[in-house]
Amino acid sequence: MSKLKHSVILGIETSCDETGAAVVARGRDGQGTVLANLVRSQLKEHAAFGGVVPEIAARAHGDVLDGMIAAALHEAKLGLDDLDAIAVTAGPGLIGGLLVGVVTARALGLARGLPVVPVNHLEGHALTVGLTEGVAPPYLLLLVSGGHTQLLAVNAVGRYDRLGTTLDDALGEAFDKTAKLLGLGFPGGPEVERWARGGDAARFALPRPMLGRREPHFSFSGLKTALRLEARKLGALHDQDVHDLCASFEQAIVESVADRVRTAMTIFRARVPAGQPLRLVAAGGVAANQRLRAGLAAQARQAGFSLHVPPLDLCGDNAAMIAWAGAERLAHGFPVCASFETRARWPLDEGAPKALGAGVKA
Ligand code: KG4
Ligand code: ZN
Repeated sequence: MSKLKHSVILGIETSCDETGAAVVARGRDGQGTVLANLVRSQLKEHAAFGGVVPEIAARAHGDVLDGMIAAALHEAKLGLDDLDAIAVTAGPGLIGGLLVGVVTARALGLARGLPVVPVNHLEGHALTVGLTEGVAPPYLLLLVSGGHTQLLAVNAVGRYDRLGTTLDDALGEAFDKTAKLLGLGFPGGPEVERWARGGDAARFALPRPMLGRREPHFSFSGLKTALRLEARKLGALHDQDVHDLCASFEQAIVESVADRVRTAMTIFRARVPAGQPLRLVAAGGVAANQRLRAGLAAQARQAGFSLHVPPLDLCGDNAAMIAWAGAERLAHGFPVCASFETRARWPLDEGAPKALGAGVKA
């Protein structure tokens, strides 16, 4: 039993188009419990624009955040006096939205004398399996969301090495752009997945980007272009064409990602002391994709890794993961500074040499 004290953390998430407020407890044994986890999507506000509009996002967060915090505390049957700290996403993301969360957290912290822990949104995704399954580092992490596509060695809380990243689009972005091209809704990932059901994944010979490359980087723009050309060749698209295009697209993604993960597994395996369990964790919104989960499960089985993926409601953006990352930082003795920056860009592996995936999305 560790000497760590039991803590109750309020989490706040406003980095993109989901407003989140959550209350999470961390026991002395390191176990996490979600007491409340509220998420409000801004889908309707952005739908007409086919993407997230930063100013609309910031205003929408501002409209609902205080009420959501009150509702989360109510659901947890707790008051502000029961909290030990507030964890807030301080980056990366859209600055306007981030500031709504950070200013709210700071004001509450000041009023109640509570420490405010700035959390990297990516660290929230990276550590979620600790909350859901008690899985602790080290593990290999595939982080796939709307803005990020990375393979990271999670060595310990706060210590991350990026092994691979995307040279162009993030994986979620590739799904979103493909959905737009095919006239499907936004966000595109769930739409493409829905249309891929009942589709023939072998009908279109789409490329498997980066297959066999030595470094586990990703690229999706060529695949997106190939799909556009196939769609153009067909002219008017019938429903079955869209089913088959989506299925073929997903299959190409799964094979490309599984190959990149295989390469990262080799690198990761060489760094982990013999006898340590080998674990692969998938996180981020795209990890909700069932075909991708199945592909990763097969790859993990083949390589002797166990696979861990958060449940669907904790794959996408949420504040429980932010509260948990804040709790983990406190429990592991990271200092809490009274002042901190709000950052649009904030790589998890800040000290990494520029050469690894330099100039690409962090
Ligand atoms: O992690 P997330 O909720 O927000 C970011 O931090 O970006 O990820 C959102 C992304 C979007 O691009 C969305 O299209 C994608 O995740 N996504 C999916 C699925 N559900 C969400 N992509 C593929 N299949 C899905 N089922
Ligand atoms: Zn995210």
